[in-house]
Amino acid sequence: MKKKFVIAIDGPAASGKSTTAKQLAIKLKYIYIDTGAMYRASGLCTLLQNISLDDEVALKEMLDKISIKIEYAKEGNRIYLNGEDVSERIREADSTKLSSQIAVIGIVRKKMVELQRKMGENGGVIMDGRDIGTVVFPDADFKFFMIADVRTRALRRWKEVKDNGESITLEEIKEELIWRDKNDTTREISPLKQAKDAIPVDTSKMSIDEQVQYIYNKIIMRNKYE
Ligand code: DC
Repeated sequence: MKKKFVIAIDGPAASGKSTTAKQLAIKLKYIYIDTGAMYRASGLCTLLQNISLDDEVALKEMLDKISIKIEYAKEGNRIYLNGEDVSERIREADSTKLSSQIAVIGIVRKKMVELQRKMGENGGVIMDGRDIGTVVFPDADFKFFMIADVRTRALRRWKEVKDNGESITLEEIKEELIWRDKNDTTREISPLKQAKDAIPVDTSKMSIDEQVQYIYNKIIMRNKYE
């Protein structure tokens, strides 16, 4: 590979972004940045510090001091919030809901975008989220937009949570996904949407290996001719 690219992967929850991005990062020897984890950590921070999402002054103070670090590990990146490992905690139901609620707030997005641009400034990164190709890196070298039908996404998420020993029904997961899709696509600031120049990837009928290979081929093919 000649150049170290910035690769943006956006799409709704459970569309296969993070699994694909993780494997792709290993294949390309790139850094994987899960921006959803950053919104999750910010949401959790308000919970731990007992800050209401309506209290803009307290939120601003929290954001001025916040430290979110992603540590790269082979078995999966670890996320640190103000020095504490919150990698598992941010995946729990309350953090999931809060992450979507906090993601509509302008000062929060401003701070996260600032951190994300810094993390990606030297290239060699794969960043997944909702607004990477539209707002964070509108000039990204590659943009992919992953989608899948809601039933497929709910089934994927259900298998994941079942493996973690959580008891939640498929229907509950489907409802939560529909609620989050609505929240993420209808918010005023940086809503989830496909960038004009993004390559759509419908993963409904694709295996993980197929998703990774599809995107990998697109990157390799272009790099060959540049
Ligand atoms: O990808 P995820 O499910 O971990 O993301 C959690 C929430 O964070 C999601 O509901 C929307 C928000 N988010 C966002 O608004 N912008 C991003 N770039 C990434 C996530």
